[in-house]
Amino acid sequence: MTHHIKIPKGWEMPEHDLTPESIFMNRREVLQAMGWVGALSASLLYGCAPGSSEVTNAHPETNLTPLEKKLYPATRVTRYKLDRRVTEEAVAASYNNYYEFSEVKEDVDHHAQKLKTRPWQVEVTGLVEQPKTYDLDDLLKKFHLEERFYRHRCVEAWAMAVPWTGFPLKALLDDVKPLSKARYVRLVSFHEPFTAQGQIAFWQPWPYSEALTVKEAMNELTLLTTGVYGHPLPKQHGAPVRLIAPWKYGFKSIKAIQRIELIDTKPQTFWNTLQPHEYGFTANVNPDIPHPRWPQTKEKMIGTGEIRLTQLYNGYGDFVADLYS
Ligand code: MTE
Repeated sequence: MTHHIKIPKGWEMPEHDLTPESIFMNRREVLQAMGWVGALSASLLYGCAPGSSEVTNAHPETNLTPLEKKLYPATRVTRYKLDRRVTEEAVAASYNNYYEFSEVKEDVDHHAQKLKTRPWQVEVTGLVEQPKTYDLDDLLKKFHLEERFYRHRCVEAWAMAVPWTGFPLKALLDDVKPLSKARYVRLVSFHEPFTAQGQIAFWQPWPYSEALTVKEAMNELTLLTTGVYGHPLPKQHGAPVRLIAPWKYGFKSIKAIQRIELIDTKPQTFWNTLQPHEYGFTANVNPDIPHPRWPQTKEKMIGTGEIRLTQLYNGYGDFVADLYS
């Protein structure tokens, strides 16, 4: 394989190097059309649209609730520029890290379908003026969804470029009003060892949890994510709601969030507890901090195999560098 090394030009990217968006948009129109065809055939077969509580999202692009049909695809925010082609959806959806279901990335897609993602609630609690529990549909109705194309960088030195849909975590935090003594935002996933075979490993600190400082959580890039590629998240990507913090290694971007707690001391997190020398708490993408197993100066794009030089903060320094000065 020939490796094509490309010097990135920062987060403002030359237009000619951008996503072949016409291709993406055409695919999206096709998917939307398929959604309509799917909905039409479902209503012909079953006489009415399925109720939201019965809907599974194994095939999220063709099996939307009426609310989701209204919301997806969301309007794209062009402020967050890509410097590379969007990863093919089929590639991104079949190469996943989700240790609750499998340690083999290519098997996650299959096993993750076992998780029941509706009904789903997210509890927001701890050091806040107004603790609240949101039903998934409450989140979708209350917060304005937008689409953002982000680079997605795993500590294992692979990368993708992904169109996520969601809303800023800040909007949710503003809704519950953090108290001034809150310092960290802890995010916790589900715990169902009978569903998720990985959680049988009782010696691991399940449920998966992650955390950000309140300042990081309030940063405009931090996205509470409900969709991808113009439709709701499929289960392997962390349905029904996950985090995306694109300037950090992917393990910070916790999937299937059930609880968000505001706390005043730095919490234990999943990978940092298991292997602290490999997975730091802050975990900002940084080519100058070597990892014991994966050199961090370069990254390989999944799908194309293209090799890129890794950028500090994954290229998002203009948005986040002042958090660390
Ligand atoms: N969230 C949970 N609950 N469990 C996990 O194992 N893996 C993380 C993160 N979120 C993980 C998780 C890791 S290591 C990465 S790189 C990203 O999810 C991968 O996201 P993707 O599969 O959507 O690309």
